[in-house]
Amino acid sequence: MKRLPKINTALPGPRASKLIKLDGTYVSPSYTRGYPLVAERGTGAWVEDVDGNSFLDFTSGIAVCATGHCHPEVVKAIRHQAEKLLHMSGTDFYYTSQIALAEKLALLAPGNDSKKVYFGNSGAEAVEAALKLARWRTNRELNLAFFGAFHGRTMGALSLTASKAIQKRHYNPLVPGITHVPYAYCYRCAYNLRYPSCDLACVRWFEDTLFRTTIPPEEVAAIFVEPIQGEGGYIVPPPEFHRELYKTARKYGILYVVDEVQSGMGRTGKMFAMEHFEVDPDMMTLAKGIASGLPLGALVAKSDIMEWEAGSHASTFGGNPVSCEAAMKTIELLEQGLVENAATQGAYLIEGLKQLQKEWECMGDVRGKGLMVAVELVKDRETKEPAKSWRNDIIMAAFRKGLLLLGCGENSIRFCPALIVNSHEIDTCLSIFSEAVKEVVAS
Ligand SMILES: Cc1ncc(COP(=O)(O)O)c(C=O)c1O
Repeated sequence: MKRLPKINTALPGPRASKLIKLDGTYVSPSYTRGYPLVAERGTGAWVEDVDGNSFLDFTSGIAVCATGHCHPEVVKAIRHQAEKLLHMSGTDFYYTSQIALAEKLALLAPGNDSKKVYFGNSGAEAVEAALKLARWRTNRELNLAFFGAFHGRTMGALSLTASKAIQKRHYNPLVPGITHVPYAYCYRCAYNLRYPSCDLACVRWFEDTLFRTTIPPEEVAAIFVEPIQGEGGYIVPPPEFHRELYKTARKYGILYVVDEVQSGMGRTGKMFAMEHFEVDPDMMTLAKGIASGLPLGALVAKSDIMEWEAGSHASTFGGNPVSCEAAMKTIELLEQGLVENAATQGAYLIEGLKQLQKEWECMGDVRGKGLMVAVELVKDRETKEPAKSWRNDIIMAAFRKGLLLLGCGENSIRFCPALIVNSHEIDTCLSIFSEAVKEVVAS
């Protein structure tokens, strides 16, 4: 029988309520919980809470559980490795799983140049490593990143982030020499132009304005860019954006660093989102979906760039053997059909949302690639006034009906289910989402 969400209690239920109270006493208040889900177990695209309520999960733990919750083959690989070797530290010793995963990622990464891999434990650590390597390799002090970008919260990664001011409040001064520039956000073009008649003004602006007025390009180490902007609103740039920007970077010896932490590992219907844009980056950061839920971050760089000397960067836990085995199994499953499924089901999801868009004026923009999909909510299609409170209310209404969603950007909702999602689950998501929109917008 086809599974549907089942909500048996008020939300949060009695056990969840107790735990949330305890959490308030002992856990850092810096976390941003949108709704009171207290998860107990998960399987595939489904999560059960501590009161036995069953939810359809279109968040996959912030785009992490690529193969679904607790994929049996990933769990088996984890168990097998855990019984053999839990930790040895790749910083000081060698072990098979780290070498094997480095080889796999180096061969998978876009482009024909040979690659090397540095391992950390998170997206921020991968970005941090890229920032350090860019400086080490180029001896240049400046870097460029984009408004709306999210690259993590450690001091270096946070310096590249320009998503929400609250993420930076009280933390200045950050790493100096980082300048943020407008992303190719066509729905709200910073230059008030329209694609394609804009002739990619957002890329030309680098040479026409930025490099002519404030930033000497020969002092720029790297451009840090998300192939598709994630936390900023799942913003898909025009097809030529990266190619043209990469050409500009090349011209001045600037490294092109793509942050695939959210968009990578099959999510967009290709192994790496950059493959949609036909650019072979100099460096690529990975985390989130890479190990189906175990902590792992990786920086993949061209071998002639990753030339730093022994001792210049390392991490005790980075590339832990259990995480590496989970990643090897995850990649195997992705290659055996999940990337393809992300493309097929993603197209089906986007089509379903576009149908709903005809019905609901508030769905200003439906965008995405594969299973990295968002709806931007507006009060009015003409003025595009952001409908932030509707966005939050719709997510809450969906939760009460048994569908887990997350926001992104100021007024968008993201749909990032596990890559094992099927069409019945997408139909269920669309139906609950539509009911939630109706409940909020019609009230
Ligand atoms: C594109 C991108 N880079 C980096 C990060 C930071 O990853 P982590 O939270 O694992 O440090 C994120 C997290 O959302 C991300 O989306």
